[in-house]
Amino acid sequence: MVKKTRKILLLPGDGIGPEVIAEVKKILEWMNKTKSLDFVLSQELIGGASIDANKVPITDEVFYKSLESDAVILGACGGPKWDNLEFSKKPERALLKLRKELKLFANLRPAICFKQLVDSSTLKPEIVSGLDIMIVRELTGGIYFGEPRGIEPMENNQRKGINTHTYTTSEIQRIARVAFDLAKKRRNKVTSCEKSNVMEAGVLWREEVQILKDKEFKKVDLNHMLADNCAMQLLRNPKQFDVILADNLFGDMLSDEAAMLTGSLGLLPSASLGIKDKNGRVRSLYEPVHGSAPDIEGKNIANPIATILSLSMALRYSLDLEQEADLIDKAVEQVLDNGLRTKDIISPNKKEVSTSVMGDAIINELSKNLH
Ligand code: IPM
Ligand code: MG
Repeated sequence: MVKKTRKILLLPGDGIGPEVIAEVKKILEWMNKTKSLDFVLSQELIGGASIDANKVPITDEVFYKSLESDAVILGACGGPKWDNLEFSKKPERALLKLRKELKLFANLRPAICFKQLVDSSTLKPEIVSGLDIMIVRELTGGIYFGEPRGIEPMENNQRKGINTHTYTTSEIQRIARVAFDLAKKRRNKVTSCEKSNVMEAGVLWREEVQILKDKEFKKVDLNHMLADNCAMQLLRNPKQFDVILADNLFGDMLSDEAAMLTGSLGLLPSASLGIKDKNGRVRSLYEPVHGSAPDIEGKNIANPIATILSLSMALRYSLDLEQEADLIDKAVEQVLDNGLRTKDIISPNKKEVSTSVMGDAIINELSKNLH
């Protein structure tokens, strides 16, 4: 078999980022050794780690390197150490810059409840068992990036905080198209969320999604839901959803909520995909939905599964390695079947293991499946 070189950039970042990315690196190195693959791995600083070393959350060099990679896998950015920095210098800016400048407008966040972990959810088993939702979050628009923004002085020692929320027809329709296309491969249902009862941008969102559906996706079942109602419905009856479509801010919140339905934020991967460039390549960034979790940093107890499943998404969506992605997903299920759990998903009669032992166990299952 001819080896195909694939450039993968690892950006561990802050907090538990380096610990969970280390497990992904082990798997990639294992794949390089045992399969006819040829990943060229490199690793760079981002977020607070980059601020400490280079005074900026991401250097130009790392930024350009991410442009040239076939897939970028990121751990997490941010932590209390950098909380008091001026807004534009915070670790999170690196992530937002990558999303914006790589034009990664589509963020896919699958919330799947593994049958082995039904008891780890704070919800009743019958509510979450078999849960399989895909949240499609718009990632480069809305209030995260709108201008004007800032904090302005006012009279009488008052200050004004300003952010702007805007969406255009094309921004709405290109993310809605992603949601409809995904729904066609799943259970054919899209629930689009906004606050059209209080926001003009929400009215436009609802109208443009409907226009696109009527024009190009007649057979997909579409319903519109106010975002606050969606938050409630996710707890009441989450299995009513297939694909949830939301803007940047509502998508951020609803995906954290959906993550907890599955038992732990430590289980949820994500893929951020851009438009096709002139060589037909879709830029991409893969990261766990959880953050840097500074409270458990350096303890070797973080759950690496969300990041390992993000690697699986990278193999599937960016690296043309569907089979390898399936192997990883299966190995994750097997370690759960074997009763291994990190601290966040521990339950009675299960074996608590560290971050690195969980990674090793997944590699062990991968090796078994290969023979
Ligand atoms: C996420 C995170 C980020 C966001 C933060 C770290 C900037 O919460 O990816 O969900 O708000 O988008
Ligand atoms: Mg978030």
